[in-house]
Amino acid sequence: MIGAVRSVLRRGFELIERPFDALFGPALNPVAQLGALGFFFYWIVAVSGVYLFAFFDTGIERAYESVQYITYAQWYHAGVMRSLHRYASDLMVVMVVVHLLREFANDHYRGVRWYSWLVGLPIIWLLYTSGITGYWLVWDRLAQYVAIVTSELLDYLPIFGEPIARNFISTGTLTSRFFTLMVFMHVAVPLFLLFIMWVHILRISRPRVNPPRLLAATSLVALIGVSLWKPALSQGHVDLAKVPGEIGLDWFFLPLYPLSDVWGRGEVWAFLAAFSLMIALMPWLPPLRRMQPAAVDLDHCNGCARCAEDCPYEAIRMLPRTDGMPFPTQAEVSAGLCVSCGICVGACPSSTPFRRTGDLKTGIDLPDYPLKVLTERTVACAATLKAPARILVFACEHGGGAGRVDGTVRLPCVAMAPPSLIDFVLSRNLADGVVVAGCAESACFHRLGIAWTEQRFAAARDPYLRARVPRERVATVWTSALGARKAEAMIAAFADKVAKLPPAKLRSPLPPTARAATRASVPAAEIGDRP
Ligand code: HEM
Ligand code: SF4
Ligand code: SF4
Repeated sequence: MIGAVRSVLRRGFELIERPFDALFGPALNPVAQLGALGFFFYWIVAVSGVYLFAFFDTGIERAYESVQYITYAQWYHAGVMRSLHRYASDLMVVMVVVHLLREFANDHYRGVRWYSWLVGLPIIWLLYTSGITGYWLVWDRLAQYVAIVTSELLDYLPIFGEPIARNFISTGTLTSRFFTLMVFMHVAVPLFLLFIMWVHILRISRPRVNPPRLLAATSLVALIGVSLWKPALSQGHVDLAKVPGEIGLDWFFLPLYPLSDVWGRGEVWAFLAAFSLMIALMPWLPPLRRMQPAAVDLDHCNGCARCAEDCPYEAIRMLPRTDGMPFPTQAEVSAGLCVSCGICVGACPSSTPFRRTGDLKTGIDLPDYPLKVLTERTVACAATLKAPARILVFACEHGGGAGRVDGTVRLPCVAMAPPSLIDFVLSRNLADGVVVAGCAESACFHRLGIAWTEQRFAAARDPYLRARVPRERVATVWTSALGARKAEAMIAAFADKVAKLPPAKLRSPLPPTARAATRASVPAAEIGDRP
């Protein structure tokens, strides 16, 4: 059931993201920058909030008038700031909802990746608390409505000794204590929200917290345009003697408020509790598959820290050396953080199939899918390729090439394949061309796999693809899991191109005996499969 919802959502996102990718390019695609945009809108809210505070009267008697002064007398700066404050907050809600759905659709929340997902839950509560307390401060008729419904909802819970809704029944019983509390909360809660946003990304290496400049500038200009076109306005002074009648609602922050009249307060709380419980439990719902975490082999680790640099999940720490080898540091994997993507294996300088002696061992490896097995599968798979163009595909299991059977070696992430493996395939004439097929460029399942692969191929990141590797025989194909046909077409076009190339220069072909031995060691049914 959850799987079916996920696939429908994934398809939906694919339909939106593809045209965005084509229009703006993967780097500027706003749907791929939701977290970064969330931070950006937060800063707009924070800066405009501080500005507004200079004009805002925090006493209940003068609050409304001070907001009117901001809106009308000082419309060209403070008024614009008020609108920016409101609209950027609304956009934060949009960002959070779409971001949550996208992370769910992309299956980024299960198993070891539970952390950011679970920390997202208090973010939602804090964001809504910030917004709701903000509406209170305007002290207009909407504020009155928000105050009454919020207090009624809170009175339902056995927290307060006396019903707090009584404070809003008439001016006679009104106390400004709650107003002061709201002013305090509207400052304190967003600050705490920022802290939790920081906690949210703690386990992610190089999180994108700033959108590209062009995207940020366009969003800001659009927000200023909307603020001038449709400024945020108040809705008449509070009149506690009257029940607020017709009022305009902010449907981003207050969709549950009218529902509390329709459903009842208990039902609204039941809905919120069920929603929170569902979010909290989702990472642990079956099916939970888990490969063993990466393991370091100190005999082959020189402490270069490339694996720690490349791990997208902050799962590797460099510690002082413990085995007396003449290197200052060694790598250590935190099993609870490792998602077994294999990117560290592709980063390690010891991960080279060109070894002449001994077993193929590397500094860091996946126990369930070691480099030795990957290399054996590569050689066995290559032996099944047929002329005129023998194309070997290294396919990430989350991308468009994952379903391909012939000539394909599947990996948890394309960046698991060390560049030397591609060099090995071509220089030993195991294939005429190599395709590295991963996820869509704006939605790499393991976040940095595509970026690292491209940088390694461009010799901008260690370990890089050596200059001697003929680039016309190497191609990358970035498509989502739903783009299998597109991936197939791109691979076929590459095969046609390779078929027209002059014969490759042979450097050191694999001895026929080694090839036959590897083929025999991998059962035919397993070629291309990953455990
Ligand atoms: C103010 C609200 C939020 C902000 C600013 C925010 C920001 C971010 C950022 C910057 C990233 C890293 C993206 C990257 O570089 O790959 C991220 C990842 C993520 N976020 Fe959020 N987020 C917010 C709310 C939420 C919520 C409400 C949820 C879900 C309940 C959520 C779930 C996730 C997940 C699952 C990841 C991916 C973690 C991974 O790849 O392992 N976020 N978020
Ligand atoms: S397998 Fe992936 S998550 Fe685990 S340590 Fe290596 S790079 Fe990090
Ligand atoms: S990349 Fe390899 S050699 Fe370098 S620190 Fe990591 S395990 Fe050790």
